[in-house]
Amino acid sequence: MTTKRAVKAVIPAAGLATRFLPATKAVPKELLPVVDRPVLQYIVEEAASAGITDVLLVTGRGKTAMVDHFDRRPDVEARLEEKGDHERLAAVRRSSELADIYTCRQGEPLGLGHAVGCAASHVGDNPFAVLLGDEFVEEDKPLLPAMLDLQARTGGIVLAFMEVAPEETSRYGIASIRESDLGEDVVEVTGLVEKPAPGEAPSNLAVLGRYVLPGSIFDVIADTKPGNGGEIQLTDAMAAMLADGVPVHGIVYRGHRYDTGMPLGYLQAVVQLAVQRPDLGEEFRAWLTEFVGGRKG
Ligand code: G1P
Repeated sequence: MTTKRAVKAVIPAAGLATRFLPATKAVPKELLPVVDRPVLQYIVEEAASAGITDVLLVTGRGKTAMVDHFDRRPDVEARLEEKGDHERLAAVRRSSELADIYTCRQGEPLGLGHAVGCAASHVGDNPFAVLLGDEFVEEDKPLLPAMLDLQARTGGIVLAFMEVAPEETSRYGIASIRESDLGEDVVEVTGLVEKPAPGEAPSNLAVLGRYVLPGSIFDVIADTKPGNGGEIQLTDAMAAMLADGVPVHGIVYRGHRYDTGMPLGYLQAVVQLAVQRPDLGEEFRAWLTEFVGGRKG
């Protein structure tokens, strides 16, 4: 089966981010900076690099600044132009040229499945990508293009997996799998369970926050009852489709995933990306080495 390639992305970003309070009282966690770009921009860039320029943000109360970030700022641009700061001017313009940003609201925090369900009327009966708002992958090792191609071939659900330590399974959706001949690093999914306890996990393959889904999932989400944590889980809706015979495949990702959803992962992402920066990296790395060696306070 071959269907059309997904051209829209949905980014669920309505959450309260309690792990980052009080920072997130007034600032959405998606706008916390990683060096000099907010987390959300890395995610929109990931979509845009894969050819997706129609991006729906599922937002909530107090999060409208996310949309402002992707708007033009003629006043700031004029100022930078006057100063002749062409590099910053290009960076400011770039954030407003990446994609067409749309929004819808998730009025209540009823779970990831519910958040994705809020995109039904924007997406319609078309395949679409879901990019979770607090994680992104290495720019040089993109994941979405291969996922979009695979979904267009199967017409089903395409996931991405990462291998996690046995004690971490209770933080993720976990899959059972068998081999697939659809490509290197592609596996066929035979079961999905949300956040199983370590002893009960069917494997160590965890669902990473990138999905390519058929539009038919919206009807299934509407029928999905609250699951783990009392929330409507996307994993449960996908498991129901799998049980109904919809093909579900996953690509095992071999690159690095930045997880900015928790303070430790956020700090790691900032340091990892800062040392890679051509403008800052050398100096920062030298300072960091001294600091870690205990020679700097
Ligand atoms: C969500 C999903 C989970 C997935 C994870 C990836 O969990 O429910 O299946 O493995 O994202 O980050 P959350 O992080 O929202 O608890």
